[in-house]
Amino acid sequence: MSDTVIVNEVGLRDGLQNQPRLVPVEGKLAILEALIAAGVKSVEATSFVSPKAVPQMADAGELFARLPRDRGVAYAALVPNEKGYERAVEAGAKTIALVLAATETLNRKNINMSLERATEVNIAVIKRAKAEGIEARSYISAAVGCPYEGGVAPEVVFGLTDRMLDAGADEVAIADTIGCGNPAQIKHIFSTLAQRYGPEILSGHFHDTRGMGLTLTWAALECGIRKFDSSIGGLGGCPFAPGASGNLATEDLVFMLNESGFECGIDVTGLRAAVKVAEEQTKQKLGGRVVAWLESQERRKKAAASAAAE
Ligand code: COA
Ligand code: ZN
Repeated sequence: MSDTVIVNEVGLRDGLQNQPRLVPVEGKLAILEALIAAGVKSVEATSFVSPKAVPQMADAGELFARLPRDRGVAYAALVPNEKGYERAVEAGAKTIALVLAATETLNRKNINMSLERATEVNIAVIKRAKAEGIEARSYISAAVGCPYEGGVAPEVVFGLTDRMLDAGADEVAIADTIGCGNPAQIKHIFSTLAQRYGPEILSGHFHDTRGMGLTLTWAALECGIRKFDSSIGGLGGCPFAPGASGNLATEDLVFMLNESGFECGIDVTGLRAAVKVAEEQTKQKLGGRVVAWLESQERRKKAAASAAAE
């Protein structure tokens, strides 16, 4: 099985969408530059959603037009409907991400559609994207649990995945949107889907609400999954899914992958610099567990060096 893992950075979308403080386009581009310098090659850059629903994403068109295109980075944009698809393609998107929650209530709260309507809209947009040469990634969100309805049966997720792939989706991302999952659930979902469709077409999106992000990632890695979303500094949450904390921090994910012998082409030192930029832009303290640990190592070394000099 391949040791190469794609780390898909979603901080600029999933991370920032929950931030009350609006980050200007320049600030978003500064975070992106730092991520690219660290080796990030796959980025979900923004979402073409209603600016009334998510004011932070009102600049999607301008941001997308200004993304650096000459650095070997693949960009995606999230779209909730046909209008979002059209805006994204007009702005130059070659890959779109669609979102379908596994429950009735979360679809209504998030995109104001019933589950069936949301499924139909997703299918229509996927079909259109495929006909127009655009890559389509489908999120099945709240795949293990919903903030409004509680636990989600895996069969629901399997059924929705079937429908997205039947429609022509290039990839399905299984998302634990509120970070309520456990590794046994994730193993069951990914092993079943990987057997049915092969692991290459699947990816994982985990929130670290209960500190399970890496454990869930490991469970999916063991099922052959080699693509994961994460967010710089652990930024994140969904404004329409109360209780969701940040995404799994990119630096924690990359640290674990590098330590375990997987190749992702990203270095943790560069990500620390990106965390700093994200902190400056959001005016808040960020950073996964590995940042706190590295900082404590440095403090210890500094104290030892100054004690030796005395
Ligand atoms: N981008 C920008 N504007 C959009 C849009 C899009 N993708 N889709 C619809 N709109 C506009 C319509 O043009 C209309 O504008 P108007 O009031 O000026 O006429 C308005 O939004 C209402 O349109 P409607 O189709 O009735 O949408 P709605 O009010 O039912 O909202 C969504 C549906 C999907 C647009 C909205 O719920 C949304 O953007 N949700 C995204 C939430 C999100 O980002 N969640 C986190 C990521 S998973
Ligand atoms: Zn998320």
